[in-house]
Amino acid sequence: MTDTVGISLLGPGNIGSAVVGALARGSDRYAARVGRPLELRRVLVRDASKPRDGVRADQLTTRIEDVLADAGTQIVVELMGGEEPARTYIEQSLRAGKHVVTANKEVIAKAGAALLQIAADHGVRLLYEASVGGGIPVIAPLSRDLLANEVTAVTAIINGTTNYMLTAMTQQGADYGAILAEAQRLGYAEPDPTADVEGFDASYKIAVLCGLAFNVDVAPGEVTRQGISGITARDIAYAGQLGSVIKLLARARLVDGEVEVSVQPTLIGRGEPLAKVDGVLNAVQLEGDLVGRVLFEGPGAGPGPTTSSVLADVLDIAQDIVAERAPRPAVPRRRVRVRPPEEHMARYYLRIRVLDQPGVLARIAKSLGDAQISIASVIQFDSEDQATEGTAELVLTVHRASGAALQGALAEIRRMDSVVEVGNVLPMEG
Ligand SMILES: NC(=O)c1ccc[n+]([C@@H]2O[C@H](COP(=O)([O-])OP(=O)(O)OC[C@H]3O[C@@H](n4cnc5c(N)ncnc54)[C@H](OP(=O)(O)O)[C@@H]3O)[C@@H](O)[C@H]2O)c1
Repeated sequence: MTDTVGISLLGPGNIGSAVVGALARGSDRYAARVGRPLELRRVLVRDASKPRDGVRADQLTTRIEDVLADAGTQIVVELMGGEEPARTYIEQSLRAGKHVVTANKEVIAKAGAALLQIAADHGVRLLYEASVGGGIPVIAPLSRDLLANEVTAVTAIINGTTNYMLTAMTQQGADYGAILAEAQRLGYAEPDPTADVEGFDASYKIAVLCGLAFNVDVAPGEVTRQGISGITARDIAYAGQLGSVIKLLARARLVDGEVEVSVQPTLIGRGEPLAKVDGVLNAVQLEGDLVGRVLFEGPGAGPGPTTSSVLADVLDIAQDIVAERAPRPAVPRRRVRVRPPEEHMARYYLRIRVLDQPGVLARIAKSLGDAQISIASVIQFDSEDQATEGTAELVLTVHRASGAALQGALAEIRRMDSVVEVGNVLPMEG
């Protein structure tokens, strides 16, 4: 038995340095909660010559071997980000009998099931609360408080950048390009915004949530994904006229033993709780057979909220170490069929630019009807600018239809002489 719980940190960056600061500031409180002081041991960096706040020079190392060989390190906190070498270092730490806490959604989404098995095989824990929803407690409630439920649906806003941008587009009536530039200037969007705006980040996170909520293994590449870069100020204005807002929604559903999982810009009725989640906030709504719907909302990123989740995992493991509690055995993940987008059922919003001629709407309605898709509403917007003079924009909403039926009808609609362009086609919720 040691008289401290030893922690080594991989990556004292934006989040890692906040974790170092919080560990120092809260040391007395954490020692009281755990029953033993927490001790920061080694800190892995790329450049050991750079001084780091709160870290002594002799703690810094550029070699993972120094962390693995340190017998006093019981918990490794991985905050480097990216897939490699983070995944390898996590695996090596687990095999060396060290517990691991990580905020790395990419590694957990791509390799979580295998790493959890390695952890179980080596009698240690792998916790990753900070990988989804920053400071919002989601993973722990799913793996503990909601355990008695069969969770059947997860609907979430889990990317702060895109939620900030869509909120700003809605409030300012501005187009995507202008708002992206503003978000980059304010530091809410990266210089290369692809991972956020094209929905990759959210697809990693919803894949992680599928593992927890349904105990099924979904690869990020299996998530039906559509980003927000094609959303226009017009779509947002039309959505407003339909009583909705547009959010980048991550959704996963268990349907007849199969999984439907997507990240798509989606129209949500203004009365829905998720429609009111604005700016950089995140929210995760879960549906369980016993509890019904529960919604978790809060800051999805940033050093403070992310540190809150990272240290919650560290303290949880530290309490187990002190109490000499063995980790619970891993429950093997199920592998179920992930439905392709053609099989997803949803209500849809369609924006179609047509020549302003009689009979166009009837032809479009017939194509939809032939595919067994019924129209719920139609609004016609006449063109106001010269470039599109003589055309009109039809905004249709349709009742629940399969992706395949809709794509079939749209292929026919695109071929019509009187159809100038089929614009955005977006699912609707609520
Ligand atoms: N930022 C957020 O709000 C947020 C929210 C939730 C989750 N997360 C997750 O938290 C993790 C960390 O994010 P961050 O924003 O703190 O990243 P960051 O500021 O880029 O920090 C990364 C740190 O890792 C170190 N590092 C990177 N590659 C390394 C390597 N090959 N060997 C040794 N050290 C290496 C860097 O060392 P040097 O200092 O020497 O370059 C740096 O200290 C990521 O997984 C991220 O997805 C972040």
